[in-house]
Amino acid sequence: VEDSSFELAEPDPAATLTALRSLGYTPQAAVADLIDNSIAAGARAIRIEAQWEGRDSYIRVVDDGRGMDAGELRQAMRPGSKDPLGIRAPHDLGRFGLGLKTASLSQARRLVVASKARTSPAALRVWDLDVVSESRQWRLLKDPGDRSRARLTHSGPGTTVMWEKLDRLVGDADADDRVAHQRFVDILAQIEEHIAMVFHRLLVGPKPLVVLFQGHRVLPWDPFMEDEPATQRIGEETLTVGDRRVRVVPFVLPHHSKLTPDVFKRGAGARGWTPMQGFYVYRNRRLVLPSDWLGLGYQKEVHYQLARIRVDIDNQMDTEWGLDVRKLHARPPAVLRSDFKRIAKIARDRAAEVYRHRGKALARASSQPFAFVWKQQLKHGKVSYRLEREHPLIKDVLEADRSRRKQLEAMLKLIEETVPTAMIALDASENPQDMAPAFSTRSTHETLEVLRAIFDVLLRGGLTTVGAKERLLSMDPFSHYPELVASLGTET
Ligand SMILES: Nc1ncnc2c1ncn2[C@@H]1O[C@H](COP(=O)(O)OP(=O)(O)OP(=O)(O)O)[C@@H](O)[C@H]1O
Ligand SMILES: [Mg+2]
Repeated sequence: VEDSSFELAEPDPAATLTALRSLGYTPQAAVADLIDNSIAAGARAIRIEAQWEGRDSYIRVVDDGRGMDAGELRQAMRPGSKDPLGIRAPHDLGRFGLGLKTASLSQARRLVVASKARTSPAALRVWDLDVVSESRQWRLLKDPGDRSRARLTHSGPGTTVMWEKLDRLVGDADADDRVAHQRFVDILAQIEEHIAMVFHRLLVGPKPLVVLFQGHRVLPWDPFMEDEPATQRIGEETLTVGDRRVRVVPFVLPHHSKLTPDVFKRGAGARGWTPMQGFYVYRNRRLVLPSDWLGLGYQKEVHYQLARIRVDIDNQMDTEWGLDVRKLHARPPAVLRSDFKRIAKIARDRAAEVYRHRGKALARASSQPFAFVWKQQLKHGKVSYRLEREHPLIKDVLEADRSRRKQLEAMLKLIEETVPTAMIALDASENPQDMAPAFSTRSTHETLEVLRAIFDVLLRGGLTTVGAKERLLSMDPFSHYPELVASLGTET
């Protein structure tokens, strides 16, 4: 008997696969998704290999994990192969039962998987979008054909995932298309960089995961520069959501003057220092969300660029964190927001301090208040920069010639109102190592002339030679020139 209370509305195979390939994966996120699967399968070594052959190019990920028999492989190839709400093993990096298919098909029209478990013969399955589209059936192929077969080099247990017909990465390019080839090479470089970042904590340690990328080992990129002595780890907190724990460790990275130019450059990461500030959320030690202020109302600004905060969550909080299929988006659960805000504020304030002052230690060593030339003024929420009228030299000049005081004031105001802040901010963030420290581009003679002018003012104000020198040493920027200060008063 027919049940007339429903009708079956099966998805159209080609349309469904086409929609699934449009989730918006980047090539690097797609490869990372395959590596997640390899790690979840217990792999210790993973090879990523790409071959340029124009439209016949391929990328494959080969692991030495536990592999699958034919039945498991068929199940793995089904979209929705596992219950997204199920409990996952603690080390499992998966969640939705989709990644293998969505990630692969986002980059390629053809997905070939070969796998071998320890006690079963090798199994092979293929999704080919063109076959599905023409047959209008969910035809999972068992035979990949000779060319694909020759590209699968497996012997022991493990899994090879291979992408062919790379329509999104290569398109219809000929093998001698140099522009397309270069694009392919650039994408591969991005993939490697992404892996170095996302899996950096798994790539180190006593039993590290080994990832070979085109034959060479991928080196970890640690956003927190924990190997650098000048990195500050400011505390550590464990927050709880129900019975789950979230571990938060804020870091303030070193001022660039404490790093070699190479280390500084590498520390910036793929996109530069300013974009790379914020929280780094790790799920099972795998980075799911790099450098984001998590919608807490904070912006990425250049002077907070040294703040990077590590957050560790496990895979039992995926719903609370709103994890998406690509593992690219996550938001802290509402109950944690105020804690996250508080921690972010502390880290940002500290980072801004380090970013602004590197001569701090010297300043504190002196008993005199540190005399700056510039001060920052905050008025109605707007920042501007003012010359310190109490600075000995400025004060002296203003008072010495009362007849010209108005003009001098006008000149100072003009300078203050035209400080090229945008240009400075841009230069300082992009090439901080090229910013000349104060007086570094002046001759000793020029520097001494400025020093002497202030020295004279101080002496006229009643200080002794020793007192005046001490005062100079507590002044920006002469605290960096103790030898010049010491030479004052000895010359004829
Ligand atoms: N390299 C591999 N080795 C062994 N088994 C694998 C491998 N790749 C995938 N599988 C199996 O296929 C299943 C489906 O993988 P898929 O990536 O589609 O989903 P998932 O990892 O379960 O969840 P997610 O959608 O979050 O990635 C996995 O759960 C796993 O059982
Ligand atoms: Mg997966």
